[in-house]
Amino acid sequence: AITYYQERYRPQYHFSPERNWMNDPNGLVYAHGLYHLFYQHNPLGDQWGHMSWGHAVSRDLVHWQHWPVALWETDEVMIFSGSAVLDVYNTSGLGTLDNPPLVAIYTGHYKTMEKQAQHLAYSLDRGRSWIPYAGNPVLDIGERDFRDPKVFWHAPEAQWIMVVALAAARKIQIYASKNLKEWTLRSTFGPAGAVEGVWECPDLFPLLVEGEPGSVRWVLKVDVNPGGPTGGSGSQYFIGYFDGSRFTPEEPVAVGQAHARWVDYGADFYAAITWFGAPGEDLYRLWVGWMNNWLYAHAIPTSPWRGQLSLARRVSLRRIGGRLHLVQAPVPSLSTLRQRYWAIENQPIVGEQRLAIQGKTLELIAAFVVGKARVVGLKVRVGEGEETVIGYEVATQRIFVDRKRSGLVAFHPKFATRKEAKLPLEEGKLRLRVFVDWSSVEVFAGEGQVVFTELIFPKPESEGVVMFAEGGEAHLVSLEAWELASGWKA
Ligand code: FRU
Repeated sequence: AITYYQERYRPQYHFSPERNWMNDPNGLVYAHGLYHLFYQHNPLGDQWGHMSWGHAVSRDLVHWQHWPVALWETDEVMIFSGSAVLDVYNTSGLGTLDNPPLVAIYTGHYKTMEKQAQHLAYSLDRGRSWIPYAGNPVLDIGERDFRDPKVFWHAPEAQWIMVVALAAARKIQIYASKNLKEWTLRSTFGPAGAVEGVWECPDLFPLLVEGEPGSVRWVLKVDVNPGGPTGGSGSQYFIGYFDGSRFTPEEPVAVGQAHARWVDYGADFYAAITWFGAPGEDLYRLWVGWMNNWLYAHAIPTSPWRGQLSLARRVSLRRIGGRLHLVQAPVPSLSTLRQRYWAIENQPIVGEQRLAIQGKTLELIAAFVVGKARVVGLKVRVGEGEETVIGYEVATQRIFVDRKRSGLVAFHPKFATRKEAKLPLEEGKLRLRVFVDWSSVEVFAGEGQVVFTELIFPKPESEGVVMFAEGGEAHLVSLEAWELASGWKA
């Protein structure tokens, strides 16, 4: 039996390493019925360092099993972020057609030279063990900030495409290859949108627009650190077209924070990449992000691990109010964790009302009519002097998440914050889907076009849920809630 998931703040249904440091998810690949998750990991300590790839697998993106470290740093290079593919046609020659290789494409960070270059490693035993490719590096342009390759198969030209960041230049480069070993530069994108900090962890993928048959757009996701929506690290996206060489945004994007479109308006969603080869890829992609922020990642009060992931999410494209939006929802398999159930319907809300619902691991689905209220919303993890507030300000049409009094906040001066985002109501209604865990809250608002991912560190006893309306009466249309079981498997 394992007991490590009982520690204070230990995520119950979000991924965290058993012990020590983690940052970005890496090498997400679906193969042989398993979702592989690799991640930036220090196997030797709870601060960033000795970067290696930790490894875990899941059949449903909810229950995870830890596997041994897949790629260890060497004397010369640290294993930085990257992706992985199943090379079904054995284009790389690293396996055979009968036993196609899994190939990881990652950044080798050269410790003593000022250099980053792209490397390969491969597995011939379904991901259990990994062999660094003898011909590394496979892509070396002598750059110092050249990292985070994300590779996918582009069927129209039967070749591999890599998006990779020229971090300091705020540029994304697109390379093509027939064999994963030789790469040719095709184009460069950027700077555009948010450029205050370096650009990292790009991803590029096509999606059908929901409800518009035959209509395809490409999403280019680029992270920025610092200069995210709340300061610190953040994640932006561009919607456009990809012709096999070049990404062209649908609407021109000027340089500047004000022109960025944010994947997440909370402080703690970074470095997400999509799963390679997952089922159902036309209408949505699956991704997961690092639930943390470089501002204070080293200081968060958890032990013996430091770092955790967001929920695995479906990402799709939908036209809302005439404009295409990236829309996110947690993976449907999460509902297998649902246990104790509460339902409330059709009630006026005046002031603060404590509900019968309570717990440290909760899913809440709510619909409100704002009525005469100035502010309406929910509070979760409510206890003595503690609350995390999810509210809607009617006059400004802004939704906010306030963690100023969410629990332990003093470990870093930039942690106690309130975040907000514009969200027009749907026929006077506000819809929220909220996931609460031992040290996080994730809010999917409206149709999922506005998301907040936030760490919180409340007392274990803070289990209350409150609904509230300020400045006038609001109306609760419905509220369903479930206590969620732990997703951990020994
Ligand atoms: C993003 C990042 C990547 C890099 C990795 C190093 O969080 O800075 O750009 O590859 O972390 O751990």
